[in-house]
Amino acid sequence: MKKVFVKSYGCQMNVYDAERMTDLLATEGYSETKAMEEADLVILNTCHIREKAADKVYSELGRVRELKEEREAQGRETKIVVAGCVAQAEGKEILRRQTAVDVVVGPQNYHHLPDLLKRSKAERLVDTEFPIEDKFDHLPALQKSRIQSRGVTAFLTIQEGCDKFCTFCVVPYTRGAEVSRPVARILDEAMRLADAGVRELTLIGQNVNAYHGEGPDGSSWTLGRLLRRLAEVPGIARLRYMTSHPRDMDDELILAHGDLPALMPYLHLPVQSGSDRILDAMNRKHTSDEYRRLIERIRKRQPDLALSSDFIVGFPGETDAEFEETMRLVADVGFAMSFTFKYSPRPGTPAAELATQVSEEVKSMRLARLQNLLETQRQAFNHGTVGQTLDVLLEKPGRHPGQIAGKSPYLQPVQFESDAHQIGEIVTVRIVRAGSNSLFAELIGTGDKVAA
Ligand code: 5AD
Ligand code: SF4
Repeated sequence: MKKVFVKSYGCQMNVYDAERMTDLLATEGYSETKAMEEADLVILNTCHIREKAADKVYSELGRVRELKEEREAQGRETKIVVAGCVAQAEGKEILRRQTAVDVVVGPQNYHHLPDLLKRSKAERLVDTEFPIEDKFDHLPALQKSRIQSRGVTAFLTIQEGCDKFCTFCVVPYTRGAEVSRPVARILDEAMRLADAGVRELTLIGQNVNAYHGEGPDGSSWTLGRLLRRLAEVPGIARLRYMTSHPRDMDDELILAHGDLPALMPYLHLPVQSGSDRILDAMNRKHTSDEYRRLIERIRKRQPDLALSSDFIVGFPGETDAEFEETMRLVADVGFAMSFTFKYSPRPGTPAAELATQVSEEVKSMRLARLQNLLETQRQAFNHGTVGQTLDVLLEKPGRHPGQIAGKSPYLQPVQFESDAHQIGEIVTVRIVRAGSNSLFAELIGTGDKVAA
């Protein structure tokens, strides 16, 4: 049997795509390996969001090339595929820069992989034209055993692409225009996942709350409506979604946060900056006060909400005073979790052309200060759950024998002692201690009996 090794970089969309590629290649006789040396096919599923991520691809390709040469010396062939967003953005350039690469395939084209691999015997290929057909129609249905090997939580892509054109971001160029999958397809996938024991679905999309897929009745469904329908799927106990844009938090979605118990009280809602001038230059289409008011509205419906965000420091032209406005917004709103980035100029995006680039030194100083504040908030949030009674979805054995590990509704890793509980169960625990990355708990009761 041939073996495939897939390495995925970047976001959850890539994690999902990597799984679907291995599912597809399984039907072509490839089994997955975690050891690159034994792979007949190496796929790098790349990320283009920041320069560092994109650069990693070429250093990794250097290593893969050496491996290919070593295997060749032993008479074994290795195919190298570059997939994902660097493939989409750089296309032919990758073949030019790294001669060991056989195939370059974009995120909307990987359903062509079996054909591309066959054709790659004769020539090196690039497939990055956005296809007319939908790749999801050409991917095999999810197999129960494959789902089970991935655990009780799953990502489900419901939407791809982005029409927002934030001036720093490559996504609208690499992933293309916004497309929502039809409700029936999503439901079918959700039912297959649930049937194989999945308890928690994270609906994913580059702009997931802009979802507007076609419903069974022919009308366009919002994310709020879709979430309500998915909450009815037997076995599915928890729903999450990411990543959202503040402009697309409509009333139906906010209402769902208040009255849909399966929808976890956790929201990743990137704000990027607290300065109105920078938000405008980023083309985010909202002010910092609009963000504050939006959070207030959501918290009114769901007072228990844990909030997370992405931030960019050192966007071109960002002054010290404007950075302080980001610090103030963070202090005002309070985040349970966050991701912080130094602005990275991306080729082809409007902000990369601006003459007012901020120095690395200033970016580093701002990043450190912001991270410090956000880390204090994260720790405070985690410590605030000590003494609370929370439901935990059990995901895997804990670090030590006799321990079991899962996640709280707020996505915090939780560990406790138990040998009587099964992965997939939801149990009620009391949090007794907060470590720096996980919470420690004692068991109170089993809140849920639908375990797979
Ligand atoms: N530089 C730095 N961070 C970026 N992001 C997107 N593009 C860039 C860039 N050019 C960040 C944003 C986004 C997250 C996925 O990545 O914060 O929300
Ligand atoms: Fe990029 Fe903005 Fe679209 Fe998010 S909303 S993917 S940051 S362009």
